[in-house]
Amino acid sequence: MSERIVSAEKHPEEVEQVELRPQRLEEYIGQDHVKEMMRVFIQAARHRSEALDHVLLYGPPGLGKTTLANIVANEVGVNIKVASGPAIEKSGDLAVLLTNLEPGDILFIDEIHRLPRVVEEVLYPAMEDFAIDLIVGKEETSKSIRVDLPPFTLIGATTRFGDLTAPLRDRFGVVHKLEYYDEDALAQICRRTAGIYGTTIDDPAVAEIARRSRGTPRIVNRLFRRIRDFADVQNDGVIDLEIARHALGKLRIDTLGLDQKDHDYLRGLIEGYGGGPVGVESLASSISEEVTTIEDVYEPYLLKLGFIKRTPRGRVATEKAYEHLGEPHQKGLFG
Ligand code: ADE
Repeated sequence: MSERIVSAEKHPEEVEQVELRPQRLEEYIGQDHVKEMMRVFIQAARHRSEALDHVLLYGPPGLGKTTLANIVANEVGVNIKVASGPAIEKSGDLAVLLTNLEPGDILFIDEIHRLPRVVEEVLYPAMEDFAIDLIVGKEETSKSIRVDLPPFTLIGATTRFGDLTAPLRDRFGVVHKLEYYDEDALAQICRRTAGIYGTTIDDPAVAEIARRSRGTPRIVNRLFRRIRDFADVQNDGVIDLEIARHALGKLRIDTLGLDQKDHDYLRGLIEGYGGGPVGVESLASSISEEVTTIEDVYEPYLLKLGFIKRTPRGRVATEKAYEHLGEPHQKGLFG
């Protein structure tokens, strides 16, 4: 996994700053549509004293899927158990998680698209009938017994909606896509973070951090902490535009939040393949990255900026990408 400061993925050793995590829906900034819908469903479930319907949250990494799941648990007033798709290797692992839930509890499965198929099949009756079928006994004498589960809510999170199987997708009653945040929401998140840490920051610095955070709260908070380091050492702890720009420059993050890796990707596409179209596999090998990393981490933001397009024949760099990198637009050899 990459260790870029602007990668939206969690860094392996990174402890998600719990003090920064909003606890209630009203503290959660942005994603207004999702918030509005969740507020209604939460109230309805509480009103009927029923478990909330199963919820699927999808969208690029770092936008607050886990945070939202924790908020839902808080708002409903139930426990949340957190698991991740690739870590649930056997059906027995899932059975243990499910049979230990209390009525109304939330089971959160991150990266649910990476759940092994056999495990996923245990989830179907669990979601639909609140029951699982356990196989007991040895080969010839084995039999299946049905074990009832308490009513619970599954919250699944994924960066790859398209990789979910149809039977799993269809079992979620509520499906929401989280969108990249606009600069206004990112600025609010940045101010909130500064408030929690008791750091003085001026408005132009807030705007600068918001602009370079790739629409992603996790990156706002990461950049904030690094800039605060510079401010503490070089500016009496105060973050102003000058120290923010200085720190961002040292961190090699450009005016749009792109780093060296994004530049390598774009230059690979433009200089190595005349701007495309080129298959993602060739691009991946030319910049020594995995295809999934390119697809999940680099490309979503480059697509959002309108720097690349996905075509049936491969990736294409747009005029905007050339302008940003300061390249004259080379027309494809065949027009
Ligand atoms: N921290 C991370 N995501 C957040 C959000 N959407 N609102 C407030 N703080 C956050």
